[in-house]
Amino acid sequence: MAKTFYLTTPIYYANSFPHLGHLYTMIVADCVHRYKEQRGLESYFLTGTDEHGINIERAAERAGRTPQEQADYVVSYFTKVTSAFGLDTEHGGYDTFMRTTYPFHAEGVSKFWRQVAHSKTPKGREAIYKGHYEGWFCAPCAAYKTEDEYSKPQQLDQPPLCLIHEAALDRVSEESYFFRLSDYGDALLELYESRPDFIRPEARRNEVMSFVRSGLQDLSVSRLRSSVGWGIPVPDDPAHTIYVWFDALTNYITAIGYGNEERERAVGFEKFWPALHLVGKDILRFHAVYWPAFLMAASVEPPRGIIAHGMWVDQAGRKMSKTLGNTVELGVLHKHFSVDAIRYFCLREMVFGQDGRFGYESLIDRTNSDLASGLGNLTSRTLTMISRYCEGKSPSGLIPEERLLLAKRSGIDTDETTIAGFVEHARDDFLLHFENYAFSRALEVAWSVVARVDKMISDAKPWDLAKDGNQRETLSAVLYRAAESLRWLCVLLYPLMPESAQGIYDQLGLGGASGSPNAKNSLAAIDPAELRWGGLQEGTRIGEVKPLFPRIDKGKLMSEIKTDRSSGTHATAADAVPGAPTAVETQPSPAMKHATEADAVPGRAEMLSTLNAKREEELAIEGLIDITDFTKVELRVGEVLSAERIPKADKLLLLSVDIGEEKPRQILAGIALHYEPDKLIGRKIAVVSNLKPRKMRGYESQGMLLAASVGEEGKPVLATFTEDVPNGARLK
Ligand code: MSP
Repeated sequence: MAKTFYLTTPIYYANSFPHLGHLYTMIVADCVHRYKEQRGLESYFLTGTDEHGINIERAAERAGRTPQEQADYVVSYFTKVTSAFGLDTEHGGYDTFMRTTYPFHAEGVSKFWRQVAHSKTPKGREAIYKGHYEGWFCAPCAAYKTEDEYSKPQQLDQPPLCLIHEAALDRVSEESYFFRLSDYGDALLELYESRPDFIRPEARRNEVMSFVRSGLQDLSVSRLRSSVGWGIPVPDDPAHTIYVWFDALTNYITAIGYGNEERERAVGFEKFWPALHLVGKDILRFHAVYWPAFLMAASVEPPRGIIAHGMWVDQAGRKMSKTLGNTVELGVLHKHFSVDAIRYFCLREMVFGQDGRFGYESLIDRTNSDLASGLGNLTSRTLTMISRYCEGKSPSGLIPEERLLLAKRSGIDTDETTIAGFVEHARDDFLLHFENYAFSRALEVAWSVVARVDKMISDAKPWDLAKDGNQRETLSAVLYRAAESLRWLCVLLYPLMPESAQGIYDQLGLGGASGSPNAKNSLAAIDPAELRWGGLQEGTRIGEVKPLFPRIDKGKLMSEIKTDRSSGTHATAADAVPGAPTAVETQPSPAMKHATEADAVPGRAEMLSTLNAKREEELAIEGLIDITDFTKVELRVGEVLSAERIPKADKLLLLSVDIGEEKPRQILAGIALHYEPDKLIGRKIAVVSNLKPRKMRGYESQGMLLAASVGEEGKPVLATFTEDVPNGARLK
């Protein structure tokens, strides 16, 4: 039976759509998964969504959906993204897309909770106890924050801000269950020490160890159901909801069968656990400290290891995130770049473990230099020459004795083992880096082969050799070496760029006849460690030569990207009405309509349009607008100079309001049923001052007052100021 390997990505919050950061972890996991399979392991790759908690509850409320509908909606988008980027099961990617709303998950979490709750800590105390929690909670992080993790507000009556999200924290003061994390410090340190590669890279391991050494505090692991209703109830105490991280982390074991027999039979907890967890460094603490401690308490073996990668950051060095609004849009990426170019860029550009700066220009540059001019050009020149000079069949690599001297004169190294040795050495280096998750180093090594073979061709000048009948064998040997090196590159690069590697392999004539009853010869099953020089058979007919990486016109594409990105934002502004039932459903914008049609007929082409409409959908989903949208609305302080009723319009008052301009504004307001005109005179109110003038009952209204709408009948209550403010002051 094959050895197994279990690999996970974090499960992503289902409150909003994925961006490059989320895609990145999936790409890395997909790449490791394919590699492990090539190496002969039975690899199981898990990704999915984290669907409980206050964030999803809030996003659902804003979008006018139930939390389950909200989760379903986002997940349907997630799975379209994974399919468009070739990461789903159908394309050889993940084995399960896990959802924490699956009933078998709830079953497993309850069992896990009970197991922990009935256990004793290493110091002999109960692992879970009931207490009272008092502190600050960041909803986007789904984490409680200590004093060094938030910035103090400028005004005393305001909540502090999360340092990561710059968002206001929620005050929590309620009864809560606690996990006695403080008793697990020594056991955790022992684990880290006995397994030096448990947390990688080393810098992260050191950080975690010093965090644990500085002393652990007990962890609140439940919220009152009355504050967070959307989640799994605490077993035997339904007034409490299990804290979202306890619920989410447990997915790694419930997904493969912990706590559910049917699932155990279908996948196999016994078979696959422990897992290697791939995470961003942002959530390392949850995986490297809390999770192993929970597992110890439940007497479940700790994970195989935790690998923390760096963050994609924006030009200002801030982590790319929804909350900060600085994400790279997957729709734009997918529209303009091939999936493999994106994969290549991500894996080549981010030195694993460190942060990476994303830029469209660098993506274009790398696509042009490394892919179009590098690997693509080497492939097409090699294959074109084989087709021209060798009747489209792999030539022989052997130079007969009597031709060796002649061959030497042409400048080629007649000893074939030189180039064979070079690629073997490169393969070993490549695998070493790959095993250490140093993808960018591994790719550098692969490209050293590209450069070496390119140079061999340029030095040997096959086009000259072709003119000399006595150099036939030399010409063949050069082309054989180039083609054989390409075959090796295909095997090595398959996990990183599956489609292109398979494409080159097919062009080399190695993919098997298309339409044959046997499945195509797939690179997925070729172990790079087993590669032997000379594996390419003489006489193999090459396939159709097609360009794999077309060159990109940088200037043209940059301006298209700019248009796409700005139109994405623009289209949304008008639709995003916070609090209203989703604008999307009631009145689709043109872009949105497109997305909806595409939804009905899933497919690759449609996927493009769906992804391109992502920005609009995303904003509508969250009910959020950009700051630039908000600043379009001009709000000013006004003073009511006069107010009078309008004949035959019992709801309207005609006001004259000074908003600091030369002349007062005439404004009609539907507040006559609730405000006596005289009482309004002298009141300072808030006015929308840049609305288009509008005629009502024969009077022009040159602005709008702001008022709260209270109760079922929507009683207006004017927004006003308790401190002295000058007329015309801008509200921001
Ligand atoms: N739901 C939790 C994870 C629970 S796992 C049991 C969560 N979700 S998340 O949607 O915020 O995803 C966080 C993960 O997404 C990161 O750890 C990382 O894998 C990926 N990324 C999100 N933004 C990223 C970047 N800017 N850069 C790189 N990866 C990023 O946390």
